[in-house]
Amino acid sequence: MGLRNVGCLNPARFEAGGSIYNRLVTFPPPEIPLREARPRDFAELWALDRRCFVPEIAYTRAELHKVMQEPEAFTLVAQRASGPILAFLVGALDARRRGHVITIDVLPDSRRCGLGGRLIRAAEERWRNVGVREVRLEVAVNNHAALAFYARFGYRILNRLPDYYPGGLDGLLLEKPLLPSRDRAST
Ligand SMILES: CC(C)(COP(=O)(O)OP(=O)(O)OC[C@H]1O[C@@H](n2cnc3c(N)ncnc32)[C@H](O)[C@@H]1OP(=O)(O)O)[C@@H](O)C(=O)NCCC(=O)NCCS
Repeated sequence: MGLRNVGCLNPARFEAGGSIYNRLVTFPPPEIPLREARPRDFAELWALDRRCFVPEIAYTRAELHKVMQEPEAFTLVAQRASGPILAFLVGALDARRRGHVITIDVLPDSRRCGLGGRLIRAAEERWRNVGVREVRLEVAVNNHAALAFYARFGYRILNRLPDYYPGGLDGLLLEKPLLPSRDRAST
């Protein structure tokens, strides 16, 4: 685990006990496990999505259910052995077998602690392992946090998508090429 986690002051990173000083200078806590979503997670995932997006953009229950059932879709969840789901990512393959990040949602209190990054890297690795060469996703033009996040992970803007979101909000189409695993040793 890198130094960035040691410096994360978000309480969601830390198990109970110890002063802030001790938490910063001793070991960071164990990494929060990532796992596949289970059917019984659905209600919690939907609630999390509604905490992450304004109502015009958040998925309806039916929409979230539908995207999670798309062919070759997967949902990765970040959750400790006990406690709420802290973050999730839904990924799928498009008609041209490009990876498609359908959504990444991190609970507000758990942001800037690396969870979103771990989820997107896990999704990319999964796609890479089945020969996917690039990943695409859409993001609202005014979602500056997400744009900074995706830029950090190597996503570049391909196009503007006029009126992509309800209410006439434009979207941006982002893409990242994925190097095959064997070519990544030197990157
Ligand atoms: C975008 C989102 C998924 C990022 O998740 P996260 O767990 O906070 O991201 P990470 O902690 O892995 O951040 C990795 C890097 O991304 C960049 N980043 C993330 N959030 C940022 C922000 N609010 N402002 C600027 N840069 C940001 C930083 O470079 C960060 O590294 P640093 O913390 O060392 O500076 C999260 O903010 C979120 O759930 N937002 C609401 C839902 C959403 O907009 N999803 C994306 C659209 S589908």
